[in-house]
Amino acid sequence: MTDPRPGAVLFVDDEPLLLQGLQRMLRSQRGVWKMRFAGSGREALELLAHETVDALVTDLRMPGMSGEELLREVQARHPQVVRIILSGEMDSAASFTAVQCAHRYLAKPCAAEELKAALAQALSLRGWVETHPLKGLLARIESLPSLPEVYAKLLAEIQSPRSCLRRVGQLLERDVGMTAKILQIVNSAFFGLPRRVVNVQDAVALLGLDTLKALVLSTKIFSQFDSRRMRGLNLEALWQHSMQAGVFARTIAASEKLPRASQDEAFTAGMLHDIGKLVLAQNFPQECEEVAAQASAGDLPAAEIELARFGASHAELGAYLLGLWGIGEAVVDAIARHHRALQGTGGQELAAAVCGANELEHMLAGAPGATAVAGWAGSGHGCPGELLGRWAPVCRSLHMQEGADV
Ligand SMILES: [Fe+2]
Ligand SMILES: [Fe+2]
Repeated sequence: MTDPRPGAVLFVDDEPLLLQGLQRMLRSQRGVWKMRFAGSGREALELLAHETVDALVTDLRMPGMSGEELLREVQARHPQVVRIILSGEMDSAASFTAVQCAHRYLAKPCAAEELKAALAQALSLRGWVETHPLKGLLARIESLPSLPEVYAKLLAEIQSPRSCLRRVGQLLERDVGMTAKILQIVNSAFFGLPRRVVNVQDAVALLGLDTLKALVLSTKIFSQFDSRRMRGLNLEALWQHSMQAGVFARTIAASEKLPRASQDEAFTAGMLHDIGKLVLAQNFPQECEEVAAQASAGDLPAAEIELARFGASHAELGAYLLGLWGIGEAVVDAIARHHRALQGTGGQELAAAVCGANELEHMLAGAPGATAVAGWAGSGHGCPGELLGRWAPVCRSLHMQEGADV
């Protein structure tokens, strides 16, 4: 999607040398992005009041207005700006609270390629919103949730050149609730691990980092939402559906002999595919209740009712949010297309695996409105019947193994 206006990025740091370093590091992008540099939070806010900025990259520890104060101001006054922290203070208490008002967290020193990729992704979302019906929906949502802090820390640790698995485990152990949840999931029959896992260190070693990242992110996202506000949504049922869809998607990807990295992406996308439902339910509880009632009464899928009502469905909204958080493009794309995998171009294998996993999970769980496998053949929507027929046996055996255990 092209946009006539180049993306605009504002960098904020009180160290003039650091700003000069960034300027040098990103010289090749001068013709691509408009770059602005500010030496303080005040200066940044002044500039934001007069110029259009798409992404803000700020240090945390600054004299006068701190990075956290700046992020809060920008969140309130310019919610459409993507907020990125670039800081060397991973472990301070200040950085823990600051992460809550940012979309992404990059650790200093940050390699040029990593920074460029993060900004390119943030700016590409702009095209998505401006040319997509999502714009109207986003305008009605006051503020999208921020990246869970423990996930941000986990990413920073994994990306650090000095990263080690033991530190990853230690980081996770600080969050007692999440540790308990992860151990419960890991010990469920889904993962088929050879022995009972009793600590996070073992879970890290047995599962690998990508699976663990997906577990952490989804566990945290689900715990962030308030079930009392979500009248149209059964949070526990959605969690179980997501979990099973993640495992199904990975199994499908493996059965299709997709590379290991794609199998991990399938798991992540399966776990997170319905995240947009949480955001919709939290922001529009009344309308979502009506959508749910309409979906269970008639034969129109919920995603289509949402589309008619909000201008976009939970699939696009969830994909946008995860893109904002820096989740990889393949996962974001598969989530955006999990109700229409074979439409559009490219990345169809992953999208089809996630779409199939979602549909098969609904069918095996006996959800109302789930379509019989045969009914999909040649329908041209979602996942074709022949694929569902091929994948159903392996998913069914997983489903039987697991029972109602998770
Ligand atoms: Fe969905
Ligand atoms: Fe789903």
